[in-house]
Amino acid sequence: MHNSLFIALEGGDAAGTTTHSHLLKGFLESKGFKVFLTHEPSNSKIGVLIRDFLKNKEIPPTTDALLFAADRDLHYRNEIKKKLDEGYVVISDRYIESSIVYQSAQSDDITVDWIKKINKFVGLPDLTIVLDIDPEIALARKETEELEKFEVSSFLDKVRNLYLLRAKEENYHIVNSDDIIEIVQENIQKIVLDKFKNLSKL
Ligand code: TYD
Repeated sequence: MHNSLFIALEGGDAAGTTTHSHLLKGFLESKGFKVFLTHEPSNSKIGVLIRDFLKNKEIPPTTDALLFAADRDLHYRNEIKKKLDEGYVVISDRYIESSIVYQSAQSDDITVDWIKKINKFVGLPDLTIVLDIDPEIALARKETEELEKFEVSSFLDKVRNLYLLRAKEENYHIVNSDDIIEIVQENIQKIVLDKFKNLSKL
């Protein structure tokens, strides 16, 4: 039986990637899997710098893209790969698809190809699940003063459409995240269990 699996949860702001990553971890642990839950930006010094830059509108999207790629390189090498080698299920709350979508949404100079190139040394997830939500509903869940530079409704519409396009191109699973948490989580769990079933048939 395959035990290690690399899962990325993706989606626009407030789509629920953090909540659902935690719930999925609990579910998989109850099934006997060893689970490593992580997130991007990571906890490295680069990740901390990025979190600071997210509040700063003067930082160009190309700089963001390069920093996210550096953070990911370190994150993959020092944490994710090690855990996968030890037989863990790794759940990453955001990964490369966040760079493809968020950074390319900010500049025509930033192409999907360029993002893939600067991220070419990291391993890709076995399973990417996109949580899809109407940005109006998503933003209503947040306090206005907490909003970061990406959390503007028109920008999040663009982000949403890009995620849907990318999901189509790459055959990612899309889960409607407007529903109540329990139903959304159940849909995510089904996708993950199906993936395990398919892997053990190979
Ligand atoms: P987020 O998961 O929203 O963190 P928090 O829940 O603590 O606010 O991630 C922070 C932001 O970073 C989010 O708006 C998406 C953005 N982001 C990128 O623009 N590119 C990336 O590569 C990643 C990983 C995140």
